[in-house]
Amino acid sequence: MAAHLLSYLLLALCTLSVSADVSVSIDCGSSDSYKDDNLIVWTGDDGYVQGGESHSVQSSNSISRVMDTLRVFTTQKKNCYHIDSVRQGRVLVRASFYYGNYDGKSSPPTFDLQFDGNHWATVQTSSTVYVYHEVTYVMKKDSISVCVAQTNPAQFPFISALEVRGLESYMYVNVDDNYPLFLRRRVAFGSNATIRFPDDPYDRLWTPEVISGGMIPVRSSALFSKGLTLADQPPPAVLKNAVTAITPNSTLQLSMGFPLVPAPVYVNGYFSEVAVLGPNQNRYFSIFKNNQSFSQPFSPPYENCTELYTSNLTASVNTTFSLVPTNFTTLPPLINAMEIFVIGDELTNGTNDQDVKGLASLQKAFGVLQGWSGDPCLPAPYTWDWINCSTDPVPRVTALFLGSFGLSGILPDFSTMDALQIIDLHNNSLQGPIPDFLGTLPQLKTLNLANNQFNGSMPASLSNKTGLNIVVTGNPNLCTSCPASPKNSTQSSSGCSKKDSNILAIMFGAIIPSFIMLQYLWETLL
Ligand SMILES: *[C@@H]1O[C@H](CO)[C@@H](O)[C@H](O)[C@H]1NC(C)=O
Ligand SMILES: *[C@@H]1O[C@H](CO)[C@@H](O)[C@H](O)[C@H]1NC(C)=O
Ligand SMILES: *[C@@H]1O[C@H](CO)[C@@H](O)[C@H](O)[C@H]1NC(C)=O
Ligand SMILES: *[C@@H]1O[C@H](CO)[C@@H](O)[C@H](O)[C@H]1NC(C)=O
Ligand SMILES: *[C@@H]1O[C@H](CO)[C@@H](O)[C@H](O)[C@H]1NC(C)=O
Ligand SMILES: *[C@@H]1O[C@H](CO)[C@@H](O)[C@H](O)[C@H]1NC(C)=O
Ligand SMILES: *[C@@H]1O[C@H](CO)[C@@H](O)[C@H](O)[C@H]1NC(C)=O
Ligand SMILES: *[C@@H]1O[C@H](CO)[C@@H](O)[C@H](O)[C@H]1NC(C)=O
Ligand SMILES: *[C@@H]1O[C@H](CO)[C@@H](O)[C@H](O)[C@H]1NC(C)=O
Ligand SMILES: *[C@@H]1O[C@H](CO)[C@@H](O)[C@H](O)[C@H]1NC(C)=O
Ligand SMILES: *[C@@H]1O[C@H](CO)[C@@H](O)[C@H](O)[C@H]1NC(C)=O
Ligand SMILES: *[C@@H]1O[C@H](CO)[C@@H](O)[C@H](O)[C@H]1NC(C)=O
Repeated sequence: MAAHLLSYLLLALCTLSVSADVSVSIDCGSSDSYKDDNLIVWTGDDGYVQGGESHSVQSSNSISRVMDTLRVFTTQKKNCYHIDSVRQGRVLVRASFYYGNYDGKSSPPTFDLQFDGNHWATVQTSSTVYVYHEVTYVMKKDSISVCVAQTNPAQFPFISALEVRGLESYMYVNVDDNYPLFLRRRVAFGSNATIRFPDDPYDRLWTPEVISGGMIPVRSSALFSKGLTLADQPPPAVLKNAVTAITPNSTLQLSMGFPLVPAPVYVNGYFSEVAVLGPNQNRYFSIFKNNQSFSQPFSPPYENCTELYTSNLTASVNTTFSLVPTNFTTLPPLINAMEIFVIGDELTNGTNDQDVKGLASLQKAFGVLQGWSGDPCLPAPYTWDWINCSTDPVPRVTALFLGSFGLSGILPDFSTMDALQIIDLHNNSLQGPIPDFLGTLPQLKTLNLANNQFNGSMPASLSNKTGLNIVVTGNPNLCTSCPASPKNSTQSSSGCSKKDSNILAIMFGAIIPSFIMLQYLWETLL
């Protein structure tokens, strides 16, 4: 049902969004739908998440309405938002966190962030500022899950906003599609405000650079009326400003924000001339890495843009980049915009599809299990509380620990989960016959069905299975000594003619006559 609701919400959103064909903006902890100053349509998070509590921030918040509310999770270790029916392809996903002392404890928490079964980031929230994390990747399925996971017993994960934007398939293609790009910096040099939608149709956030000594902000006179044909689609708004070095012969040192420990990085630089140059003017410079030449000298075009990238370079805080003038230039080096990503580990393909399907049928049958979402097994060790998984690259679900879960009704068919070794369903109120498929699971070693309401007789597949530890005590209507029920029976009659317990037989003998007597009385009264 939740899934249906979700696809309607998405449909409604898609018809409203004008640019990219995927745009989901979730205001976590809110139930409202509204359009903000940037013309972004936000919706509450009811249709995307189960569990958690809504809170409003306490400290005065001048950031945006979106940051006024949040959703915090205090009971489960992994808590996921599920965004369904997304057209597959490259997406940008952004998760934002503003603590705002919502709990009055002045204690901003730290926790983990995950997407589609992959580790994403450790989120360190702050008392004063909001933090966000952004990942760009090519989806492997047609849905997206984003989870916050508890890493410290006293610190509860929360989330303030979640955004998904569709990108073009030709964007950011210089790194293998099986790897995610985690944003570190996306800078609009010389700008004095963050640039995003509608100036950037993909709603990337281009933040201004703090102007340090050795830099001069300059405004471009270019109009970009012919448009730009660059692969990564830098919006003209970010090319309208730039910074230059102070003199034509000085170097422009760039602040890269690389990670502390060496990691593979992907860097995009955007260079556009800011004025029509006179006949005696030229601007030639090259890129240096660690004071060594790293590119040919080049001259940025006016009303156009040169995009330079380096993919899969190992870099750390000690890796420097600078723009070095050639000895014949008359104008100082210049840069308009830059994007720096860390290349993550290879994207997981997620838990085995057959197991995901089987778990979905269990969740459909038992509402109490519906609070678990996201990838069931990944990332390890953040599996769902009631399963265990193998450590294979594509994990298999090896155990169901559903004892004392308050399950009632008929067991659904989860026979696709053929790597199960342990099934523990004791102390629930499960009814109906014991399904035949349980005996056909090839790896099954332990099957605990004790203290339920199963009836009928043991299915043939289980009655003579060797090497299986099976417990069925405490199922008063189950006949263990009856002839095995035929293989194709799904809904056998309750009880059976021959009981293996004398006590039950006596009870039967006592109950049936009183029933007949009541019926007799009823008929005579009429
Ligand atoms: C920001 O820059 C624009 C032009 O680049 C200018 O018109 C505006 O006044 C500036 N705003 C501030 C607050 O400096
Ligand atoms: C910008 O430069 C590229 C590469 O030189 C060229 O293909 C493209 O036509 C130029 N765009 C405009 C609007 O001049
Ligand atoms: C750079 O050029 C200025 C004049 O424009 C000159 O005074 C200065 O010595 C030069 N510096 C270097 C390092 O060449
Ligand atoms: C960076 O340089 C500092 C000092 O030169 C050194 O102590 C540190 O180990 C270096 N870090 C890396 C990641 O290379
Ligand atoms: C690059 O040169 C600057 C000044 O010339 C120096 O301070 C810096 O340590 C050098 N960096 C590297 C990585 O060699
Ligand atoms: C980056 O380069 C290393 C070694 O050159 C290679 O093993 C790795 O697969 C590359 N990663 C990507 C994302 O291309
Ligand atoms: C610039 O430097 C190169 C060598 O690095 C030299 O061959 C060339 O003559 C120099 N040009 C000028 C105008 O000084
Ligand atoms: C995911 O599947 C693709 C093709 O199906 C394969 O190339 C890739 O190696 C797999 N990734 C992992 C982490 O197993
Ligand atoms: C869960 O699976 C792992 C191997 O993936 C195993 O080492 C561990 O003992 C299992 N835990 C339980 C409770 O069965
Ligand atoms: C049986 O399950 C219920 C919850 O459904 C729980 O309250 C009770 O303690 C469990 N009994 C045993 C003996 O585990
Ligand atoms: C075990 O049961 C199967 C049917 O599930 C039957 O074909 C087989 O003959 C039985 N084996 C024994 C030893 O009873
Ligand atoms: C088992 O299946 C056969 C063939 O579909 C059918 O004739 C028979 O009645 C079924 N037995 C039971 C107990 O449902």
